Amino acid sequence: MIIKTIVPQIPKFKYVSQKMKDCFDRQYLTNDGQNLLKFERMLQKYFNSKLKPVVFCNGELSLYSLIQAWKFNSNIKNCKAIVPSFTFSGTVNALVQNDIEPIFCDINNSLTLDLKKIKITKDVKFIIGASVYGNIPEINKIKKFAKKNRLIFILDNAPGFCSKINNKFPINFGVDEIYSFHATKIFNSIEGGCAITTNNNIRKLLVAARNFGQLKKGANDVLIPGLNSKMNELSAIVGIQNLKGIKNLVSNRKKVISKYLKFFKELENESKISCMKVNKNVFCSYFFFPIILKSDSVAKFLKYMASKRIYCRRYYTSVHTTTYYKQKIEAQDLKRIPFTEKIKNKIVALPIHSEMTNDQINYFFKNIRNFFK
Ligand SMILES: Cc1ncc(COP(=O)(O)O)c(C=O)c1O
Repeated sequence: MIIKTIVPQIPKFKYVSQKMKDCFDRQYLTNDGQNLLKFERMLQKYFNSKLKPVVFCNGELSLYSLIQAWKFNSNIKNCKAIVPSFTFSGTVNALVQNDIEPIFCDINNSLTLDLKKIKITKDVKFIIGASVYGNIPEINKIKKFAKKNRLIFILDNAPGFCSKINNKFPINFGVDEIYSFHATKIFNSIEGGCAITTNNNIRKLLVAARNFGQLKKGANDVLIPGLNSKMNELSAIVGIQNLKGIKNLVSNRKKVISKYLKFFKELENESKISCMKVNKNVFCSYFFFPIILKSDSVAKFLKYMASKRIYCRRYYTSVHTTTYYKQKIEAQDLKRIPFTEKIKNKIVALPIHSEMTNDQINYFFKNIRNFFK
């Protein structure tokens, strides 16, 4: 038996081959092709969003462009942004590439942003939440906090495609957000992503941003210095096909998640591990199932599991510990992020796949139990 870290959701080739062949025959493979436009219409229906999502070639550039559009629209020059360190590096890179200084904030046992510990200075203009493992942070509280402190709130929801809060998506609460459709994600278009906004002007800037800043094909006019980040037709075809199967996928995934929750709750009750706290009103899609070990024994855990052909990973490794960012953070800044510091070497991401068989789940749980004996 083998439990892989990731099992990508790749559609059967027969379901996409004809559509791909049509593109080659038409010799139209990128630049707002008909499949890209259809994919955006389908996503709008899926999200029930007022405005059509703007699809990009990946999640990081979706986030980069959404931040760029807001910064440009609000005529912000030098500024800082509150952002958790406990996220994927892409969240923070998108700020730095926009010439915004990240101010790392702490997380709580939901592993998402902890509002209570944030101190705002005049030059802070953004607050970026991240739905790590698909766990949506408390968006209503962050919205209120952002309003009170005149901050622009953007949600990096890259790993949270099927996640919901009160049975709705963050955009339905007026929160601008982005998703990643990378091949490893629960929903994918090989590479890809989208940004969704409720603001007409921001949407217009996003459409321009992905095409060198040009709003209309061949217009040659630049509205914003955008980076080429268009999605090609082949990715859009895979996205469309995967989106057709999303209901099925979520229903399978829910069954697997409920088994995991029951099993790991027991381990938590025995004080062997801690689990990520998910609020009752959130459906978390669990892009990986994180557990927090009681000691810094992650390497030992990974080695033991690998010896059983169960492939877990260290994820997320807090951004402030990476080579580039650790030069930027001062010792006193670490005092602002005690929970992140406490768990950074104790957290492991366990594999969880939508189509896991009972045999695989039992094998996996048996070996977890053996490790903690
Ligand atoms: C929180 C977060 N932000 C951004 C990204 C970047 O997305 P992409 O890989 O599509 O560029 C990821 C990808 O895993 C992520 O988890």
